[in-house]
Amino acid sequence: MKLASAALPDSIDATAALLLEHGYVAQRELATAAFLALRLQRPLLLEGEPGTGKTEIAKSLALMLDRPLIRLQCYEGLDLNAAAYEWNYARQMLEIRLAEGPEQKASLSEDLFARRFLIPRALFKAIDPANAIAPVLLIDELDRADEAFEAYLLEVLSEFQLTIPELGVIKATQPPIVIITSNRTREIHDALRRRCLYHWVDFPDAARELQILRLRLPGLPLRLAQQIVAFIQGLRQLELYKLPGLAETLEWSRALLELNALVLDPATLHSTLGVLLKYQDDILRVQGSEAARLLEQLQAQVISDRG
Ligand SMILES: Nc1ncnc2c1ncn2[C@@H]1O[C@H](COP(=O)(O)OP(=O)(O)O)[C@@H](O)[C@H]1O
Ligand SMILES: [Mg+2]
Repeated sequence: MKLASAALPDSIDATAALLLEHGYVAQRELATAAFLALRLQRPLLLEGEPGTGKTEIAKSLALMLDRPLIRLQCYEGLDLNAAAYEWNYARQMLEIRLAEGPEQKASLSEDLFARRFLIPRALFKAIDPANAIAPVLLIDELDRADEAFEAYLLEVLSEFQLTIPELGVIKATQPPIVIITSNRTREIHDALRRRCLYHWVDFPDAARELQILRLRLPGLPLRLAQQIVAFIQGLRQLELYKLPGLAETLEWSRALLELNALVLDPATLHSTLGVLLKYQDDILRVQGSEAARLLEQLQAQVISDRG
């Protein structure tokens, strides 16, 4: 079948270049993992600290391959009804009421679990045989879901199919591209890991973070961007309760732009720490001697500009 979507990249370099074109700066190892996941049609499990670009790469892949993105945000208590499909009880009841004679009622009862009474959720939508183009399925923050939920996923991930007792096996005609993310608040089970390719997403180094910042916020003065990155890289060396991720780098930079800051000075830093750190203990710690020490360090430091 001829696909309307963009063809898969044919090398690691092409994967990285395409991602970059769509706003995503991928380390070589991540580009390799993404390339292999696409070529081997295997789900890709991405683990790492919050704010390291795990969710974003799924969005960028969907964009660059011109595929729909189907996102399943996981949470405690997520079950099959919310993740895969649900029967439309209201509609079933209504049709039972509308069926008049006993004959009509009898024929309807055989029909009550037909496709038209099914409400598809993310997993069903991702493997729906009616899809003309296989989508990108993002199963986000799987560590938030209960362990039992992982068992539901095994069939979907290894066979790209779902068994629905009343309907039978629903199998994708073209396997979706699957990205699973975890912030590692608990360990993902071995059985699931075995079905995936795996990559640990680290915080970017200074040069790469600067590249991302310049790409995402081209209006940011270079000197300020360098100071922001150096400061945040320094913060990540501290034992904080919650380290700032890339989302915080970008948000803080936007805040500094709003304030028309040209360089990082103690007063600006003091008044904007809440954009960067979200726990009072961390703020108190950094507000003390750490901030002054980091600021002093950055005066000396200059990061090379890759972007
Ligand atoms: N490699 C990257 N290239 C470009 N932007 C990135 C990259 N990684 C992260 N970002 C930016 O940082 C933000 C946070 O990333 P996100 O994917 O939400 O983190 P995670 O899912 O790992 O918690 C994204 O909205 C995106 O703008
Ligand atoms: Mg995320």
